Amino acid sequence: MNYRTMGKLGIQASAFGLGCMRFNGAASGDSVIDEQKAISLIRRAIDGGVTYIDTAYVYLNKTSEIVLGKALRDGYREKVTIATKMPAEAVKDRASMEALLAEELKKLQTDHIDFYLMHGINKEKWEYFKSIGAPQFFDDMKREGKIRYKCFSFHGPYDQFEYILNDWDWDMVQIQYNFMDINNQAGTKGLELAGSKGIPVVIMEGLLGGRLANAPDNVQALYDAFPVKRTPVEWAFRWLCNHPEVSVVLSGCNEAEQIDENLRIFGTVEAAIMSDEELKLMDDVRAAYISRTKIGCTGCRYCMPCPNGVNIPGIFSAWNNVSLYGIDPKSDWQYRMILEKGNGADNCVGCGACEAACPQHLGIIDGLVSAWKDLNG
Ligand SMILES: NC(=O)c1ccc[n+]([C@@H]2O[C@H](COP(=O)([O-])OP(=O)(O)OC[C@H]3O[C@@H](n4cnc5c(N)ncnc54)[C@H](OP(=O)(O)O)[C@@H]3O)[C@@H](O)[C@H]2O)c1
Repeated sequence: MNYRTMGKLGIQASAFGLGCMRFNGAASGDSVIDEQKAISLIRRAIDGGVTYIDTAYVYLNKTSEIVLGKALRDGYREKVTIATKMPAEAVKDRASMEALLAEELKKLQTDHIDFYLMHGINKEKWEYFKSIGAPQFFDDMKREGKIRYKCFSFHGPYDQFEYILNDWDWDMVQIQYNFMDINNQAGTKGLELAGSKGIPVVIMEGLLGGRLANAPDNVQALYDAFPVKRTPVEWAFRWLCNHPEVSVVLSGCNEAEQIDENLRIFGTVEAAIMSDEELKLMDDVRAAYISRTKIGCTGCRYCMPCPNGVNIPGIFSAWNNVSLYGIDPKSDWQYRMILEKGNGADNCVGCGACEAACPQHLGIIDGLVSAWKDLNG
């Protein structure tokens, strides 16, 4: 296992951080969890050198923190730093924030949380957290020693990331980043901005939730043609760790083999080790994925709201994801939710209001017909 310095904090962390969101293959929100297996996976990772563990109040139907607390008994707590999170939806004032933190400490069986994050914020959620006094609360808890570092995890566009990052003296930030997301969410610009301020960056969705672990044929052909043979997972993690601004890469693992494989990979990766040929390979791989895009929807939502309730960006996102990465539980769930809410492409009456509003001049009406055929087939 390689260890990296966490920016201005100056502390060391394992390059591989274990994410506790997906045990059993269960996505966040599912309640079925094999507790003994999860505990043994967590301990296996720590025994292999992992020192950074990420969980959240809401993961696995609020059971993730409990399982982690149990796993960290018997001397394991002292070997790791814990990151957990406060969801905006669960708090409304100082008293509820105090109650939530107390509950999390109890579940985790610890007297302090190392990295305490405002969970999955964008500008709207950050403004909400400010309006209920969360920054003051985090500062107070830090002074009292109940949390060590005040942090946030982010999902939103780059301009909002820049605003939030510059709006407070954060200790750490967690962003979604991988070789496909260089211009998505915080993206490379966000990573470099945080790095320029010395703020350590923890990466989530480094494999896009597992989607990048199985390369489609045109991508696998590129990997196969490269003189040095590595798995798609290894290429993805190697590319991430090549960025000096990255402190920790989180990955959720469901099997001991995945833990062992990731322990091995993160023992070989370092900042700035990739050759020009390797970097070109990853550019080619990205282009090969993008060539599978069905429609060039950027999710700007200028087409919304559709007068007939069609969730145009959601459908196009699912259509593109299935073409790029194959059917996976996340895309499947997202698409099912669209249908369940009655926002499917079958509501389209071809009025064309969306096409008139689309800055990309996309053939939305034809696209919806094709998406319906592909996804419902
Ligand atoms: N704060 C937030 O808003 C937020 C959002 C997302 C995630 N997170 C955190 O970030 C962590 C990491 O995100 P993530 O779980 O999405 O990470 P990820 O690394 O992108 O995806 C994890 C999935 O990748 C697959 N995988 C991992 N190692 C593998 C290996 N060696 N070989 C083959 N497949 C492998 C597994 O998929 P299979 O299940 O298909 O085997 C695993 O479930 C989460 O666990 C969570 O703690 C936070």
